[in-house]
Amino acid sequence: MVKVITYGTYDLLHYGHIKLLERAKSLGDYLIVGVTADDFDKSRGKINVQQTLMERIEAVRATGIADKIIVEEYEGQKIDDIKRYNVDIFTVGSDWAGHFDYLKEYCNVIYLDRTQGISSSELRAEKNEIKIGLVGEPTVVMSKFVSECNYVNGVKTIGICTTNQQELPETLLKLPLVTNDYSLLLNQVDAVYIISQPTKHYNHIKQALKSGKHVLCESPVCLKLEECKELFLLAKQKGLILTEAIKTAYSTAYNRMILLSKGGKIGDIISVDAICTSLRQIDYSNHIELENTWNSLTAWGPTALLPLFQILGTDYKRKEIISRVGSEEYSYDEFTKITFLYPHAVASIKVGKGVKSEGELIISGTEGYIYVPAPWWKTDYFEIRYERSEETKRYFYQLDGEGIRNEIVAFVKAIQTGQNISYLSQDKSEAISKIMEDYYNKINYITI
Ligand code: CTP
Repeated sequence: MVKVITYGTYDLLHYGHIKLLERAKSLGDYLIVGVTADDFDKSRGKINVQQTLMERIEAVRATGIADKIIVEEYEGQKIDDIKRYNVDIFTVGSDWAGHFDYLKEYCNVIYLDRTQGISSSELRAEKNEIKIGLVGEPTVVMSKFVSECNYVNGVKTIGICTTNQQELPETLLKLPLVTNDYSLLLNQVDAVYIISQPTKHYNHIKQALKSGKHVLCESPVCLKLEECKELFLLAKQKGLILTEAIKTAYSTAYNRMILLSKGGKIGDIISVDAICTSLRQIDYSNHIELENTWNSLTAWGPTALLPLFQILGTDYKRKEIISRVGSEEYSYDEFTKITFLYPHAVASIKVGKGVKSEGELIISGTEGYIYVPAPWWKTDYFEIRYERSEETKRYFYQLDGEGIRNEIVAFVKAIQTGQNISYLSQDKSEAISKIMEDYYNKINYITI
């Protein structure tokens, strides 16, 4: 019996796939089909697969062509599979020509002509392309967002609304629509990515939701708890997606780290301490601008608060905010430390744009601790450390696009499915808004 094996993602199964499977089967008597697992696809750079692994397996099964279906989960698995199943022929489409020649050592390798004019990527792109407009002042993050959109099927940035057209970098200037008229932008898009100054978020979000547009807004979404609640309610009533954008929440390493910490790997968690700083020149000559600018707390606070709220929850009993402000008159903090008291744990964040420190994250437990080295907010690596250093466990996960790419994928999926599958639930957004509100109202607040 001649055994044939082939692999693929088989997202949104199309006739190109079916023809390939039929021809693969006709090369022998028994066809094994390897369907790639989601995580493996991500590590190969295919990040916007629409269907789950189970759906894709079911679609391949429904063709009735495969005799056996297996899941491909890791690099190097093909060799293991070929040996395990005594495979005679390995085959894939001609788009992979030459790529798998190294398998000739184990079996016959055949590249079949790819069917012209169809691919999963095209189908994904055609599936109601979502038009996104950008709102706010041009920043490095905004340019990165535009380039990261290029990696995601089914989404396109089509314009920007900004009051600062003079300083637009090349990537943003090339967008079809550049305007300072927000209503004009809203008329032409399905969704907005808001990265305006935090004081403007509330109005920008509200106007977008009222116009029926989905919103991805850089954190903090609001500077007041009630406003945050109001906007989420409005989004719900209108059937729209409102998501707080914190790219760290979408990094694979960060997510695994949160899961492991909650899974008891370091015993009971007693303390979570996060530090985020970036030293910038602050120009105090323009005080009016300063008040609207991202200060240390608005710029770094949400990211630093994220692991605290995700691990210990948002139900802390007490907190104290300590800031060093450049000028009493303005609420621009150069440095802020917030300490939290939970029923059985403590936590702290230190954020600064006028003070520099090591940007690490440490989660301390009764049996060990998790150490995420600087800059932890865009990490691909962390360690779980124990009393005996030889027991240290190291974890590495590929991070592409600092998490922004995955953030866009999650946003697009949320819009397409109508379900907010955001990694950041509403209670976290509310808790972040509450911290901002207390800071501006000087509640539990002292200066140094
Ligand atoms: N295939 C084919 N003809 C097509 C599309 C795919 O013969 N028009 C083959 C591929 O060469 C591969 C298998 O089908 O052997 C599974 O391909 P997969 O990567 O899942 O599908 P694509 O449509 O190529 O997906 P994408 O656009 O995401 O690359």
